[in-house]
Amino acid sequence: MNYKQVLAAGLAPHLDGVQEETIADLIEYPPNPQMGDLSMPCFKLSKQLRKAPHAIAEELKQRWEAHPVFDRVEAVSGYFNVFLNGQRFAEEVVGEIYDLQDRYGSQQIGQGRNIVIDFSSPNIAKTFHIGHLRSTMIGNAIYKIHEFLGYNCVGINHLGDWGTQFGKLIVAYQLWGNQAAVEAEGIDELQRLYIKFHDEAESKPELETEARLCFVRLEQGDEEALKLWKWFVEISLKEFEKMYALLGVKFDSYAGESFYNDKMDAVIEELKQKKLLEEDDGAQLVRLDDFNMPPALMIKKDGGTLYHTRDVTAAIYRHNAYDFEKCIYVTDAGQSLHFQQWFKVIELMGYDWASKLAHVPFGKVSLEGAKLSTRKGNVIRLEELLTQAIEKTKVIINEKNPSLENRDEVARQVGVGAIIFSDLSNNRIKDIVFSWEDALNFDGETGPYVQYTHVRTCSLLRKANGSESIELSGAKDALNFALLDNPEAQGVLRQLHLFKERVEQAMHKLEPSVVSRYLVDLAQSFNRFYHECPILVDDAELRQARLALVKSVQITMRNGLCLIGLEAPEKM
Ligand code: ARG
Repeated sequence: MNYKQVLAAGLAPHLDGVQEETIADLIEYPPNPQMGDLSMPCFKLSKQLRKAPHAIAEELKQRWEAHPVFDRVEAVSGYFNVFLNGQRFAEEVVGEIYDLQDRYGSQQIGQGRNIVIDFSSPNIAKTFHIGHLRSTMIGNAIYKIHEFLGYNCVGINHLGDWGTQFGKLIVAYQLWGNQAAVEAEGIDELQRLYIKFHDEAESKPELETEARLCFVRLEQGDEEALKLWKWFVEISLKEFEKMYALLGVKFDSYAGESFYNDKMDAVIEELKQKKLLEEDDGAQLVRLDDFNMPPALMIKKDGGTLYHTRDVTAAIYRHNAYDFEKCIYVTDAGQSLHFQQWFKVIELMGYDWASKLAHVPFGKVSLEGAKLSTRKGNVIRLEELLTQAIEKTKVIINEKNPSLENRDEVARQVGVGAIIFSDLSNNRIKDIVFSWEDALNFDGETGPYVQYTHVRTCSLLRKANGSESIELSGAKDALNFALLDNPEAQGVLRQLHLFKERVEQAMHKLEPSVVSRYLVDLAQSFNRFYHECPILVDDAELRQARLALVKSVQITMRNGLCLIGLEAPEKM
């Protein structure tokens, strides 16, 4: 039940001319339950109704008619507060969770509509680093949240598999590389060659020219260059896929930058025809002076294409292929200008769907205590980070639960989860400083804390029934929901009820942290309940009622964890 709507419908007849929808939007959940379960801040209507807030609240109270969903109402300093009937609320919430289970919180808002999500998109022959992890996890969560809300999602890994850097890499390999080393060391060796190229080029600028020419040969289909390039791609993909398997991330398409090689000519032609292309010292660009942006370079002096060219081409291709309602690009905020520029180019080309393109930027990640310099290649390698997380988690598990079976599997779920969660626990635009201590703290606002709370629900259910699963169908009819009418249980129920709204909010804001923060709130309210209200009591009726709440938390937590890409182990 949508209580905001129910309340709005009850209030509308008494609020002259204010739309029910407007009222529903104004209704709030007070931070403190003493101020009601729902509240109408009347000062937001005082202008429209030409009345003082306290007068509006008083009047609403006078005219309020008894309602089965709400127990009582009050008018306090300009707020009209409403208290739910606790028993009914419990019945409603638990009933819905029992009915929907793994669909609890889902909706069909996006039915029949496509969303394209371009995420992760690492660069071939370069280390998969912690910045790509953010794109991967934010993108993955945005994907799952949309899917949960009924959208048809297309996840695209726009691999950085084309561009001048491949000219450099091929030149470097031909000068200093050998097959055996690349086969043995993979991306590390490619990265080493790439860095060596830059070091050497500092004193030998002719290397740069050679690399540029090499890339032009590659674009023209030179066989030797193509062969090496393909090999570099293969080696890199193998490593990336290992990472994705560890993270539990999948893509619907791996059409990277090179996919658009044979599609760019037509776009350049179109730009010319639309008189958008201007020659500048041999290069071709689209001027964006009128929009206070530097020009978008489309063709370089030597004829080579650019990141811009491929993004414009890819967007047109995707629009034709997927007829998207939204096409989302998840990258660090450092690329914001790039996206603004080429979004503008699409608009100037006369495509009204330019407004459906959205850049979803995020802040930088740094590791506590580590000095980073990307240029020299001492970036934080994701593989190392994940391995360390798993190892550190194993140590903690050995202390907490030395007899745990499948310890390795759980250490992976919790270790990887800790990293993902710490990545998703703040507004994405914020820069984050990653700290092991914070991420792996089982009592903090962390992945392990939420997972541990889920494990607690599992072990309670196991103790009560001998298994995590309890019979749900028909079970709720036998429950006495009046027994859940106490502050701790109601606190949990309020959180459970919020889930659907939070998921929707996360979708609208493209902000997975709404879900991660929600999970921490839910875990905290559950733990309060757990400490105040013994669950496995002798009184069978009370025990069943409390267990129903435990079960509801378990289901909701699993659903939420899954949305942000975390697993939910049953023991740890
Ligand atoms: N490969 C780029 C990078 O590592 C990200 C690509 C993002 N997607 C796009 N369509 N531009 O920074």
